[in-house]
Amino acid sequence: MDSRINWWRTSFNNGEAEAIANAIAMENVSQGPVVAEFERRLANYLGVSYAVMTTSGSTALLMSLMIAGVKHGDEVIVPNRTWIATAHAAYMLGAKVKFVDVEPGRPIIDAGLIEEVITDKTKAIMPVHMCGRSADMRKINNIAEQYNLSVIEDAAQALGSRNIDGFLGTQSDMGCFSFSVAKVISTGQGGCIVTNEKKYYEKLIAIRTQGVGDIINAQWDEPGFNFRFTDILAAIGIEQLKILPNRIEKINEIYRMYEKGLAELTYIKLIPVDIQSGEVPVYIEALCECRDELVSFLEKNNIQSRPFYPDLNFAKYFNDSNHYPESEPFGNRGMYLPCGPEQSEVNINRVIEKLHQFSA
Ligand SMILES: Cc1ncc(COP(=O)(O)O)c(C=O)c1O
Repeated sequence: MDSRINWWRTSFNNGEAEAIANAIAMENVSQGPVVAEFERRLANYLGVSYAVMTTSGSTALLMSLMIAGVKHGDEVIVPNRTWIATAHAAYMLGAKVKFVDVEPGRPIIDAGLIEEVITDKTKAIMPVHMCGRSADMRKINNIAEQYNLSVIEDAAQALGSRNIDGFLGTQSDMGCFSFSVAKVISTGQGGCIVTNEKKYYEKLIAIRTQGVGDIINAQWDEPGFNFRFTDILAAIGIEQLKILPNRIEKINEIYRMYEKGLAELTYIKLIPVDIQSGEVPVYIEALCECRDELVSFLEKNNIQSRPFYPDLNFAKYFNDSNHYPESEPFGNRGMYLPCGPEQSEVNINRVIEKLHQFSA
C-alpha cells in the first residue's frame, strides 16, 4: 500500500523552533515585543498602517464587528458559502445573520444581490475571499458608503492574495486573517485584524485587553475581553512570514499541476482561482458529479480528500428558510483535493493518476 496522503501538508522547521526557544530565553512568553514585531512586519508586508494580532481568525472577526458597533438586534450580511466562523462572529453578538447567495460558478458573495437584503437594521457587510478569490470590493464598498455600513473583509483564506487594487483584506474598514494550520503560513492558532484607521486600531488594542487602553492607569470605559496573542506563537509567525513568498509560489505551482492534470477529465472540474491576477489558491477545490464515491475511492487508495462544508442556511439556528440556488452546487458537489505548501510533487502526481483511474 502506498503511504498516506493527507488533504493538507505544511511544515514548521528549525527556524521556528529556535525562535520559540529564543522568545522563552528572553522571557517573552505572553503578549509583548515579539507580537509587536510580528504585527509590524505583517502591516509592512500588506502595506497597511496597523495590524493587531489575536487568538484566531474567528476572534479577529468578532473583534472587528465589536468595533463596528454591531450589537443585539442589528443585522450583518454574510455570504451563504464560507466557513461558519464568519456568521458565528455576528451571531455571538446577538446580531441577525442575513445570507446572500454566491456568484454563479464562483463561491464568492454576489455583490449584485446585497442591496436586496439591506434593511434599516443592517450594520455591516462581511465579504469573504474564499480560497484567495477576491470579492467585488469596489462594488461592496460603494454599497456600504451609500447605506452607511461597515465593511469587514474575511480574508482568513487570502493572505498574500491580490486583486487589481492590491492585497485582499486591506480594501475595507478592517480585514481579518487566520493563522491556523491549514493556511499559507501558520502560528498553530492565531488571527489578525488590519486597518488603516487609527480610531479602529486604538479601539482594537483596547478591547483586546478588557477594553482598557492604558493598563497602568486603567479606566473602565468600555467592555472588552482577553483576546491577547502570545510572543511564543508570534515567534513562529515571524519565521513563517519570511517564507511566505516561496509558499505562494509553491501553492500556485500545485494549482497549475492540477489544472494541467485534470484538464481532460469531464467528471471533475477545478473551481477556478485567478492566479494571473494575483489570487492565491490556498486550497485545491473541485466540483465533482460523484463526489462521495470519489472521496471513498481515494480513501481506499490511502488518499484523504474532503467534501465541502454545507451551505450556511442549513444551520437551523439562523432561522433562514430562503433558497440559495447558486450555493447549492458547491455544498452538494464541492471537495478539497490534497494540497498545502509542503505537499510533494510526487503526492500530487499520485492523486492525479488516481483521479484518471477513477474516471476509467
Ligand atoms: C473563511 C474563514 N473565515 C474564518 C475562519 C476562522 O479562522 P480561525 O480558524 O483562525 O478561527 C476561517 C478558518 O479557516 C475561514 O476559512
